[in-house]
Amino acid sequence: MKIYLIGMPGSGKSTLGRELAKALNLKFIDLDEEIEAREGKSIVKIFEEDGEDKFRTMESKFLMSFSQSNQEFVMSTGGGAPCHHDGIDIMNKTGISIYLKISESELCRRLEKDKESRPLLARDQSLESVISNLLSERGDIYEQVKIILESDLISTQDLELAIAKN
Ligand code: S3P
Repeated sequence: MKIYLIGMPGSGKSTLGRELAKALNLKFIDLDEEIEAREGKSIVKIFEEDGEDKFRTMESKFLMSFSQSNQEFVMSTGGGAPCHHDGIDIMNKTGISIYLKISESELCRRLEKDKESRPLLARDQSLESVISNLLSERGDIYEQVKIILESDLISTQDLELAIAKN
């Protein structure tokens, strides 16, 4: 089984993904961490030094190689991964994609503290407008997943139940 967690930065993909992998006894993969380890630098540095396009190409290569492997895993993907280089199609063809749909107000509350570590959020506009713009660009793509969980209080048990029903 391959499970892909998708959603906006701050939606809890990494935390829930790690817990879910443990509960299901599967390997956990954090796509951003894989890229950072391979490149030997942070996502922020990759954006600064190489640019977003290069990051998107790397992100897609990693996604493609995991999705085509015979490994089973729970993967937390970066917020933009489904939206570039047909990421959503790759996930839907190879596993169970789950969208953690968190309200805009809750995303802003969670991200206020760590926007510096997320290059797309550290822009000149307010956090509210960056989140709202990203969501209007991405919402339709996110909603192409197999399972949508819409709540500000998603738990690992919610994820397990939704997967079992799928
Ligand atoms: C991005 C989200 C980040 C990271 C990169 C781009 C995005 O991951 O991949 O900064 O485009 O939304 P998180 O969603 O884990 O913050």
